[in-house]
Amino acid sequence: MSLWSKHQIFEKNSFVLLIGILVMVSIGGLVEIAPLFYLKSTIEETEGVRPYTPLELAGRNIYIREGCYLCHSQMVRPMRDEMERYGHFSLAAESMYDHPFQWGSKRTGPDLARVGGKYSDDWHVEHLIDPRAVVPTSIMPGYPFLAETRLDTRGMGDHLTANSIVGVPYTEEQIASASADILGQAMPDTDAADAFMERYPSAVVRDYDGNPKAVTEMDALVAYLQMLGTMVDFSIYDDKANLR
Ligand code: HEC
Repeated sequence: MSLWSKHQIFEKNSFVLLIGILVMVSIGGLVEIAPLFYLKSTIEETEGVRPYTPLELAGRNIYIREGCYLCHSQMVRPMRDEMERYGHFSLAAESMYDHPFQWGSKRTGPDLARVGGKYSDDWHVEHLIDPRAVVPTSIMPGYPFLAETRLDTRGMGDHLTANSIVGVPYTEEQIASASADILGQAMPDTDAADAFMERYPSAVVRDYDGNPKAVTEMDALVAYLQMLGTMVDFSIYDDKANLR
């Protein structure tokens, strides 16, 4: 019996074939996936990526709570049409502090991975309250209640602790002052804002929702959106070679 005729065992017996397929797929899977866990280059070293501030993290929670991910992805694919529309393709490092990540694949609306800085805060506030006020043909739902709902800052320290358990490098001080920092980032010219800036030097303090009387869920969501895609300075990498 030649080697090839032994193959009949697989062809004539579907159970043996099934086991054979499982063995082959496992080997293929291991060869492809296992190295990613110890290769340093899986997440490239990238300057500028920092953990989210408590206000941004609260905004991110609202983004998830409201299901924004059902219509928006947050990953620019490395293809020419995507890069001409959205900018540099997403790097693994840019979502290394995302738990859970928001890459997504559903795009009823545009990708948001690089939306930070594309519009003014006012535009975002108006758009989130009533999308059709700024984009007449929009089918996005409005979220007017965000502007009227005070942000709940309780439990923010625990939230940072949970993130630090899964590897986000928050310091003890950042965890202890999470609730104060959440307000500090949205209230410029206060002591809380100064203390916040010392703990997050590369973050931005601003009254994001344009309402100085209260820190609202709108403040948090706009702070999150305006940060997206802005941590890495791509002007140093952006040359024509990237678009080829
Ligand atoms: C039913 C699908 C849907 C949901 C849910 C949705 N959006 Fe949208 N979004 C769209 C569509 C469609 C557009 C494009 C038209 C427009 O600008 O309004 C859009 C546009 C946007 C833009 C402007 C992007 C750009 O580059 O012009 C932002 C920012 C945005 N959405 C944020 C959000 C946030 C935050 C949430 C959750 C609170 C959300 N969206 C929920 C469909 C949706």
